[in-house]
Amino acid sequence: MTHPRTRVMPRRILVTSALPYANGPTHLGHMTEAVQTDIWVRFMKLRGHDCVYVCADDTHGTPIMLKAASEGVTPEQLITQVGAERRRDFADFGIGFDNYHSTHSEENRRLTVRMYEALVAAGHITRRIVRQAYDEKAGMFLPDRYVKGTCPRCATPGQYGDSCEHCGATYTPSDLIDPMSVVSGTTPIQRESEHIFFKLGDFEPMLRKWTRSGSLQPAAANKLDEWFDAGLRDWDVSRDAPYFGIEIPDAPGKYFYVWLDAPVGYMASFENLCARSGLVFYDYWGPDSQAELYHFIGKDILYFHSLFWPATLEGAGFRKPTIVHAHGFLTINGEKMSKSRGTFVSARRYLDLLPPEYFRYFLAAKLGPGLDDIDMNLDEFATRINAELVGKLVNIASRCAGFIHRSDGGRLAPALPDPGLYREFVEAADRIAASYEAREYAAAVREIMALTDRANLYIDQHKPWLAAKDPARAAEVQATCTQGLNLFRVLMTCLKPVMPAMAGRAEDFLGKPVTFWSDIAEPLLDSAIKDYQPLATRVDPALVRKLVETPMTTTQEISVEEFARIDLRIARIESAALVEGADRLLQLTVDLGGEQRTVFAGIRSSYEPGQLVGRHVVVVANLKPRKLRFGVSQAMVLVAGTEGGDALFLLGPDPGATAGMKVS
Ligand code: MSP
Ligand code: ZN
Repeated sequence: MTHPRTRVMPRRILVTSALPYANGPTHLGHMTEAVQTDIWVRFMKLRGHDCVYVCADDTHGTPIMLKAASEGVTPEQLITQVGAERRRDFADFGIGFDNYHSTHSEENRRLTVRMYEALVAAGHITRRIVRQAYDEKAGMFLPDRYVKGTCPRCATPGQYGDSCEHCGATYTPSDLIDPMSVVSGTTPIQRESEHIFFKLGDFEPMLRKWTRSGSLQPAAANKLDEWFDAGLRDWDVSRDAPYFGIEIPDAPGKYFYVWLDAPVGYMASFENLCARSGLVFYDYWGPDSQAELYHFIGKDILYFHSLFWPATLEGAGFRKPTIVHAHGFLTINGEKMSKSRGTFVSARRYLDLLPPEYFRYFLAAKLGPGLDDIDMNLDEFATRINAELVGKLVNIASRCAGFIHRSDGGRLAPALPDPGLYREFVEAADRIAASYEAREYAAAVREIMALTDRANLYIDQHKPWLAAKDPARAAEVQATCTQGLNLFRVLMTCLKPVMPAMAGRAEDFLGKPVTFWSDIAEPLLDSAIKDYQPLATRVDPALVRKLVETPMTTTQEISVEEFARIDLRIARIESAALVEGADRLLQLTVDLGGEQRTVFAGIRSSYEPGQLVGRHVVVVANLKPRKLRFGVSQAMVLVAGTEGGDALFLLGPDPGATAGMKVS
């Protein structure tokens, strides 16, 4: 059956965006993904296709368990609260989910267990003993990110258990010097436990084929080739209690690793929707499903979605994704979103300052089809809204509306004066549709803006403001403005996936809703329009800049007594030397007024040993001695610098201070 409004077969499409972790607030990075998915879904619906959009909160795993504990609530309480805020945030940004569910749900538990049992039955699961860091005080095994210590390669302290942020070395927590549990602060031990593995390698031929079948963007497919070359290793899908997750049926006390049940959350959310709609689960997820399945994800989780996910689906007898579409990361003024840099913008912070559809428009205007990062330069944001949206697009409607009301009490003319121009716009809309379909939104917006210029030019050429002065030319004025408003209607329809609310207001003003893209095939003629109300207003660049003007986040307060426990002293550097095998460190001997100490200081990037002898510095004299590979560090030298930066500046007293003086 062909759809009456599209003249093509309606497609059945299920779309998802990645499930946000339930341990923090929604931010503009999450919105970057949700908005681009929503634009695509709204576009498909407007084209007359049966398109369903589901998502959920990703609620399991160690970080959520520990976050809840640190807030003194149960994980259930935490995820309930985060989930409620999340739904409001998404709704306020106009994200039109057909269902928003949770991975902590009965559907997800049942489906995950079923997937696992099918994988066991098909022989894709194996078990073996694993040695892992264990925190005896907290009574739990520690994921790599929960062990910190000094990098075994370059000796930078404070590195995570899986890799060094300074030199890029990768290793396991047991390689760290001075490993420490982030949970309890104690030294972890190594303990053995049986783990359950998914044999990813069983699926290599299928994955190689799937990867090159048009399911991935070229850049993503190349990434996969690298992973194939590195070899597909078994995937550890179990975690020992305590763990907030789904218990493994044939392994009591063990839970599925969150990344096994998280993507199943897509299915669970869909199944939950089936229960209250006419949709049939197997039509979409069965091995022979004719429906299309699209996953929108960030490039950081490509590995999970393009290797583990299709493999577990196939292994358990479900269909595989049609397309996994990965996007880059949103940066703000060229910087990664980060709390310490003040560039973290929560969804709520944005909504407190600016209209949600301005973000949607800006994102669409910037978003290409690839994996490149997307920069939200705040001044560019203001300029685009003011120049393009308000100055050009809305301007067409506001210029034309007033004259129609003056000349003919608010009726459109019975015919277009330039039907050829209207046709051009309708044909251009086809090209714009192709860009949306291919997720090349920036190209779509570019073309829409070029047409906007064309529409404004038409009005400039016909100067209704001059003709309106002559009552004899009333019909001409009405015709010009009817043309202008019809061009505007085409453009607003093209932007409807991006700005559904504004498009709705425009349709209301023009007196006729647009249900399908094909509604623009015929112009609006001889019908009444309403009084014009401003569709969008200019934004003050200073207001946009406020997005990142949050007060400096200071760390937790301490009392005077707590500060007094830190014994700060002036010390004189007696000698300084390079440390073999540690390219960040210098070994210093410092004098604290009669007492000599050895200090390993990570200041090699900024100081030569010879510059240092004789200098006075500030040290923490009562820091617990730390054993490094090269020796024991008996104090700490204070330096200034930006977080993670290489330029360091030793702190020292004004002339006259002597070694051993107390600093307070
Ligand atoms: N819970 C997992 C996904 C499981 S999907 C079965 C997760 N959650 S997340 O909250 O960290 O991220 C959710 C999505 O937001 C991911 O696709 C991630 O790439 C995306 N983004 C997070 N920060 C982002 C930006 N700064 N910019 C764009 N997208 C980013 O990963
Ligand atoms: Zn290192």
